[in-house]
Amino acid sequence: MPLENMRAMLSRASAGRYAVGAFNILDYSSAKAVVQAAEELDAPVIIQTSAKTVTFWGSRTLAGWIRELTGGSKAPVALHLDHCKDLDLIRECIDAGWTSVMIDASARPFEENVALSRRVVEMARPKDVTVEAELGAIVGVEDDIHVKEQDSHLADPAQAVEFCAKVGPDCFAPAIGTAHGIYKGEPRIAYHILEKVAAGTRVPIALHGGTGLSDGVFRRCIALGCAKVNISTQIKYAFIDGFVGYHNAHNSQYDPLKAIQAQFDKVKKGIASNIRLFGSAGKADHEWRVPGENNL
Ligand code: 13P
Repeated sequence: MPLENMRAMLSRASAGRYAVGAFNILDYSSAKAVVQAAEELDAPVIIQTSAKTVTFWGSRTLAGWIRELTGGSKAPVALHLDHCKDLDLIRECIDAGWTSVMIDASARPFEENVALSRRVVEMARPKDVTVEAELGAIVGVEDDIHVKEQDSHLADPAQAVEFCAKVGPDCFAPAIGTAHGIYKGEPRIAYHILEKVAAGTRVPIALHGGTGLSDGVFRRCIALGCAKVNISTQIKYAFIDGFVGYHNAHNSQYDPLKAIQAQFDKVKKGIASNIRLFGSAGKADHEWRVPGENNL
């Protein structure tokens, strides 16, 4: 199945009050785990790459892997660039075949954020690539983006409405109190902000900082309008723990492929459980897709 952008999958998710999982992959094996989990559960899914991962492997290499993995798969898959501040890298990913990108200009003053995000929308739209943009500052570390607690701030609902009207993103990431990385204590989610933003913007909302949120928090955020849920740290942990755990249990056996298999199984299990929890299992829509559209 050719890659698709996020537009149809997120608008269907918004209408159906479920969310599509967006999983930050690290390599070929973790990307394969995402595609296999989605296919087995008949779910739409978003393969997400951090800017750091793109720089590490190279955009052409990554795009080649994803093309190979999704070409024969029945799962609807979008390839999305996560938090990116660099317009050149965004352009490079669009040219290499990403079907969706995130511009993160949230550290800039409001009008600059609007202008930069708008530029990315203008760059992406002619290529049928969807755009996610952020307002407010989500605390924590997402690869190369560090936001300290004292620098974090929640999105203002009135500004969010103005931002979305001016930028026209396909997906909107307001800071609502979630955090990237491991939560220290109970996260305080600003549900009242989420509710106002979802009602005022009518744009599918991305829930960042998915790792460590409780089932109840996920369900409530999804019910209030989050149509995309981002999971990264959980995958990093499963990736390392799966490999190291296997080796620790078989420490005289130097068989890397067995350790890689154990790593794959652990990453895939977590992703499958997220997909079920987000309500997107069984939601792959095979009807409307036009073969050949959004090809890499
Ligand atoms: P976690 O690392 O907390 O899962 O957050 C992922 C994320 O929001 C990526 O943008």
